[in-house]
Amino acid sequence: MDIVTSIQDMKTRSAGLRSGERSIALVPTMGFLHEGHLSLIETAKGLADCVVVSIFVNPTQFAPSEDFTSYPRDRERDEALCREAGVEIVFHPEAEEMYPRNYSTYVSEETLSKTLCGVSRPHHFRGVTTVVAKLFNIVRPKVAVFGQKDAQQAAVLRKMAADLHMDVEIAVAPTVREKDGLAMSSRNTYLSTGQREEAAIIPRALETARSMVEGGMRSTDRVMAEVTHLLATKRRVRVIYVAIVDRDTMEAMREVVPGRSLLAVAAWVDEVRLIDNLLF
Ligand code: PAJ
Repeated sequence: MDIVTSIQDMKTRSAGLRSGERSIALVPTMGFLHEGHLSLIETAKGLADCVVVSIFVNPTQFAPSEDFTSYPRDRERDEALCREAGVEIVFHPEAEEMYPRNYSTYVSEETLSKTLCGVSRPHHFRGVTTVVAKLFNIVRPKVAVFGQKDAQQAAVLRKMAADLHMDVEIAVAPTVREKDGLAMSSRNTYLSTGQREEAAIIPRALETARSMVEGGMRSTDRVMAEVTHLLATKRRVRVIYVAIVDRDTMEAMREVVPGRSLLAVAAWVDEVRLIDNLLF
């Protein structure tokens, strides 16, 4: 496995692979890898001849008040996990090269990214679309793999790729969960044992919603009310949003349409912001 830090080196390696007729699957990450990331790598292996994992804590997707500086980082462990997982190249660019001092170009999706997380994090998706567009230009993958855990992010990136005629397929892999159901996240390391116990209400509330829908409930108001109520039973949990939307457009739905609906939740557990979702 090779570790590449310079953008030019990554472009040269990518061109070399493509000229040898080896297709590339890219897995963009911010590092501090867990089993969720590793499952994306496994999916990626099945979709192309070789896997490139990018590790870059992207400053433009964090607001000044957010956790950019404290975001967990462990470069050696990440590289060892990638090596074990059979990754061909880890691309570990430097912030100074990705965003030099005179940097001034951004990619912004203007519709899907305005709802759900876009309300409370108004500049977040602009940072995500910008960095992912840059990674696509540098790595030139045939396919890029993202997690269902960040359903809105995957939908926004799919829209960006379509709108900008990018030659890349967007694949989405299922959410990997802890034993208690909590969706794996690099940010789970911020949770104390007590917070962690209360956070487990999030997947439990989603499961209750699933049972309601499986039992025939189609009123999105009723399902959202139940989820909101369950989250409110925990003292440390504060709801940011509970929404049932079309899984492609992120538009609110009045009725659950099996095969099309996404239940998405964001909540604070004290000062830790968590998101989760479920497809109906
Ligand atoms: P990061 O949070 O590191 O996540 C990288 C990828 O892993 C994303 O596609 C995310 O959806 C996926 N992922 C995270 N937790 C997961 C889980 N429990 N199960 C399955 N997949 C999971 O998302 C980002 O980084 C950044 O915004 C990025 C796309 C890299 C742009 O900077």
